[in-house]
Amino acid sequence: MRLEGKIGIVTAAASGMGRAGALRFAREGAAVGVVDLDPAGVEAVVGEITANGGRAHGLVGDLRDDDFARAIVHRTATAFGGLDFVWNHVGHPGPASVEGVDMADFDIAIGLNLRTVLVTTAAAIPELRARGGGALLYTASTSGLVGSAFSPVYSMAKFGVVGFVRSLAKRLAPDRIRVNAICPGPIDTPMLRVFVARPDQQGTQTQDKEALVAARGRQNPMGRTGKPEEIANAALFLISDEASFVSGAALPVDGAATA
Ligand SMILES: NC(=O)c1ccc[n+]([C@@H]2O[C@H](COP(=O)([O-])OP(=O)(O)OC[C@H]3O[C@@H](n4cnc5c(N)ncnc54)[C@H](O)[C@@H]3O)[C@@H](O)[C@H]2O)c1
Repeated sequence: MRLEGKIGIVTAAASGMGRAGALRFAREGAAVGVVDLDPAGVEAVVGEITANGGRAHGLVGDLRDDDFARAIVHRTATAFGGLDFVWNHVGHPGPASVEGVDMADFDIAIGLNLRTVLVTTAAAIPELRARGGGALLYTASTSGLVGSAFSPVYSMAKFGVVGFVRSLAKRLAPDRIRVNAICPGPIDTPMLRVFVARPDQQGTQTQDKEALVAARGRQNPMGRTGKPEEIANAALFLISDEASFVSGAALPVDGAATA
């Protein structure tokens, strides 16, 4: 098992890629703190892990609350006896527009793509140091590597995530804490339905979200969207000791979209 004896946290773990990661990490031997604001989703993920003989506990709350974003670290370290990794996966699409931008939606996007990630990281660093090192992983996006005409605010935030990751990787290297980002392309999750429903520059009018998801897949060089499990596989590598000399990477997992 590739995470035998490790203890970690996955945020936004009740759905999509976070759920796939939590399940996969537990199968590889990790004890997992499953964090999300969806109680039923958290219960289902924890239940599936424990039913399969794994170790997990649920942490239900809103990561826009700084106290909760901090508490997930201490509660997991206390429950399992330390902390080896955190996958800061939570994020938010934010407003599509720039002219007439909804600043309340902007604040939510910055809160969930950047603020909560900083708060959780600040709490996690001493715990990782206490273990002699560890791994911090962040979910950016291909929109954190190249500009997005449809989601400029999202792109602003995800470029911020990549900048934070590269900076922290240098800062924490002496502590043997590795810091990396995953940059997913279009992945078949509920959040992709938000992105594809945004008005595109060709003026497509359909609101059939499944048709729009399929169309987005066809635009990808591989002719399809990605699966949450394909992101979980990349996350597993970056968290595991197999990536022992990998830090400061922003890894596209996007079917060659940004190539
Ligand atoms: N799906 C994509 O195509 C795609 C592509 C690139 C990057 N991303 C990034 O992946 C991450 C999540 O995406 P996904 O597609 O796996 O999502 P998803 O839609 O499957 O799940 C999102 C989860 O986040 C939880 N959540 C939302 N707000 C929360 C809050 N305030 N506190 C706690 N939990 C909260 C939801 O309850 C839900 O379980 C985000 O960082 C997103 O920016 C997604």
